[in-house]
Amino acid sequence: MGLKDFSIKDKIFIFTGGAGHIVGELVNSFAKQGAHCISTDLRPEKLELQKKNLKENGFDIDVLELDVTNQKAWQHLTQETSKKYKKIDGLINGAGINAPSTFFDVDIEMFKKIVDVNLVGTLIGCQTIGKLMIEQSKGSIVNISSTAAAPPLSKAFAYSASKAGLTNLTMNIAREFGKTGVRVNSLRPGFFPTEWNKKNFLSQERIDSILNHTPMKRFGEPNELVGAVQWLLSDASQFVTGAEIIVDGGFACQTI
Ligand SMILES: NC(=O)c1ccc[n+]([C@@H]2O[C@H](COP(=O)([O-])OP(=O)(O)OC[C@H]3O[C@@H](n4cnc5c(N)ncnc54)[C@H](O)[C@@H]3O)[C@@H](O)[C@H]2O)c1
Repeated sequence: MGLKDFSIKDKIFIFTGGAGHIVGELVNSFAKQGAHCISTDLRPEKLELQKKNLKENGFDIDVLELDVTNQKAWQHLTQETSKKYKKIDGLINGAGINAPSTFFDVDIEMFKKIVDVNLVGTLIGCQTIGKLMIEQSKGSIVNISSTAAAPPLSKAFAYSASKAGLTNLTMNIAREFGKTGVRVNSLRPGFFPTEWNKKNFLSQERIDSILNHTPMKRFGEPNELVGAVQWLLSDASQFVTGAEIIVDGGFACQTI
């Protein structure tokens, strides 16, 4: 298998959470490699900024405001994208939220909202875009899970449960889509702190605890996820489905 199989040039990709820390980096990298990226997010102003920054460097992307929990919005996105591009090669489900708290302070409405965005939003994406991919007999879906999927992360009850559900759902859809030509995998990043994480979630004690548990003794940078996602989206991974790809500096293999 030659290197050309890793190519994503001219492929059509849809991203959710495209304006964020991790997926924003994926959009930038793939756009620069010649993929047609449709970056969607809840925050249109951030999307416009992303488009402007890329344009200044000679690259272009499509941006669209999309709430992943809104089924009609997904249908609209699917119709518009297939009208414009005639096919969709990849879907990256990266929209995600968290709201840390102690167990007895878990707010039930917030718990439901987190599951709705992180898990149900991904389900709707896999249904709407997945259906179109099956009609094309080809496609690759990458769902962004987390190291919190299992064992769970303290103070992140809904988040951990939603990501455990996401890993499970990914395998189930991969099984369901098995013979269709559409592959479904998950990416399991370790710790790639956003500004929000640093402010709301990462006390010095927590940072020390994470780094002590990470064999490589550092956090990850979003560009260190690009290679794994590119592989999953490209033909180089054509026999890979239902897999969970871990990129975490060794966090998952550490015990004592
Ligand atoms: N940063 C990390 O350390 C880390 C680790 C493991 C997994 N992840 C996962 O990676 C993904 C990206 O996270 P990030 O760290 O870049 O965070 P981020 O907050 O920078 O990005 C998440 C994006 O999702 C968008 N979003 C939130 N609700 C939405 C909705 N209803 N519809 C559409 N978009 C919505 C936000 O506007 C934001 O741009 C998430 O799924 C997250 O759970 C992150």
